[in-house]
Amino acid sequence: MRISSKAFRFVDLFAGLGGFHVALDELEGSGVFAAEWEPTLKALYKVNFGIDAWGDLNDLGSDEIIARNVPDHDVLTAGFPCQPFSKAGDQLGFKDTSQGNLFFKVHDILRVKRPRYFILENVPNILKHDGGRTKTTIIRMLEKLGYSVDVEHFSPHEFGIPQVRDRAYFVGSLEGLDHFEWPAKRKDPTEIHSVLRHDVLSRRAIPEQTLRAIDMWGDFLRRSPAALKLPSFPIWAMEFGATYPYEDETPSGVWARRPGWGLRQMGLKGSFGQSLECTIEEQVKRIPSHANRAGDFCFPQWKRNFIRQNREFYQANRSWIDPWLAQWKPQDFYSSFQKMEWNAQGEARDIDNFVLQMRASGLRVKRPTTSPSLIAFTETQVPILGANLTGKRRYMTPAECAELQCLGGIQLPASDLDAYKALGNAVNARVVKAIAERLLHGLIRSTSTITHDLEPLRATA
Ligand SMILES: C[S@@+](CC[C@H](N)C(=O)[O-])C[C@H]1O[C@@H](n2cnc3c(N)ncnc32)[C@H](O)[C@@H]1O
Repeated sequence: MRISSKAFRFVDLFAGLGGFHVALDELEGSGVFAAEWEPTLKALYKVNFGIDAWGDLNDLGSDEIIARNVPDHDVLTAGFPCQPFSKAGDQLGFKDTSQGNLFFKVHDILRVKRPRYFILENVPNILKHDGGRTKTTIIRMLEKLGYSVDVEHFSPHEFGIPQVRDRAYFVGSLEGLDHFEWPAKRKDPTEIHSVLRHDVLSRRAIPEQTLRAIDMWGDFLRRSPAALKLPSFPIWAMEFGATYPYEDETPSGVWARRPGWGLRQMGLKGSFGQSLECTIEEQVKRIPSHANRAGDFCFPQWKRNFIRQNREFYQANRSWIDPWLAQWKPQDFYSSFQKMEWNAQGEARDIDNFVLQMRASGLRVKRPTTSPSLIAFTETQVPILGANLTGKRRYMTPAECAELQCLGGIQLPASDLDAYKALGNAVNARVVKAIAERLLHGLIRSTSTITHDLEPLRATA
């Protein structure tokens, strides 16, 4: 049965928050089926879109079950789980039996239901995974079903949205792709201001230690002479004053070679210039965590470079760094707070002008042109807005992160942590809309509505 007032019918597999749904809703599509196994997201999908989503897609276990449960549709969308192909995961790909084979489920549904079009989304690494063989397998399998297939990668910042988040999009059509052109990538700069809401209060205070670490690095920037180009390598304060070996030998190598004395009586210093005239157990604590792992007998070249560059930088700048060390005592901070990445070369050195993010690799300071890519953030990794951006240092709110995904019009999970996680997994609705309106030839009413504007997409329940 066709729903007459709607232009076309679509299904949203691995639906999450419903980024595909929001985009296709804008094009007057009608969602007729969704699948999402995570209970909070499943319940939220009902609230936002009025659809009782199917649970585990693996339960669509045979052609017959698919035919019975998945309604006829014109467009299939799926952001199939990306961990098996992500650089951050173990890259098992199709061999990951729990998640990697879900592509085959998408394939089964396409084979049984034969919608005219599909749009699939995944991490860009899927294009390089297994030396390109994963991409070739996906395309070949889809072509065998009769689809013309193309793939391209896009990031929201290429659509005027202040988030860098590269993702691969596969499109397919049973009617060829002669009519289809990928949207153009815009090059003009973006500004995080476009998603900030000045009337909101962040629900969660920034921990005291984090604020102090920001102040500490703010003071470091302020003290640095204007004529000095700040390092583009990560600044590792624990290397200031350290002289332990790292080129031909490592601390672990010395501990293995001199089991009684270790680094004692060698005239060497640990992190922040601490004495190493102590037991081996104590020496381990006085060597930075990036250099004290047991059995680590040879550091990779990048690590050697960072250690050498930091030590040279310190020696050349002791006149202003020593008073900074004496005032702030960075050795009393968590070790990740002892590192800073300055990604704002050439800008005025006021830390409150920037977007800040506490990462395991240190405090990242970046220009307010884009937000860090939304990932399934832990609470400590949520971007912090400097005081000059919003009046007071605060975390970006889930509502602002939703704007980065062009999902500003839907209800989010009640817990902030769940909301950040779901937004980090979601597809950007504007990018999907831009692709879909060029792909769904003959299904959408007019091509004159092609998206160039920046107004937020709104979902209709
Ligand atoms: C990469 S996210 C896709 C997010 C979605 N496109 C959006 O805009 O929010 C993958 C989603 O698939 C869900 N998922 C993973 N395995 C599943 C399965 N076997 N059946 C149903 N849903 C699954 C996850 O809970 C997650 O929400």
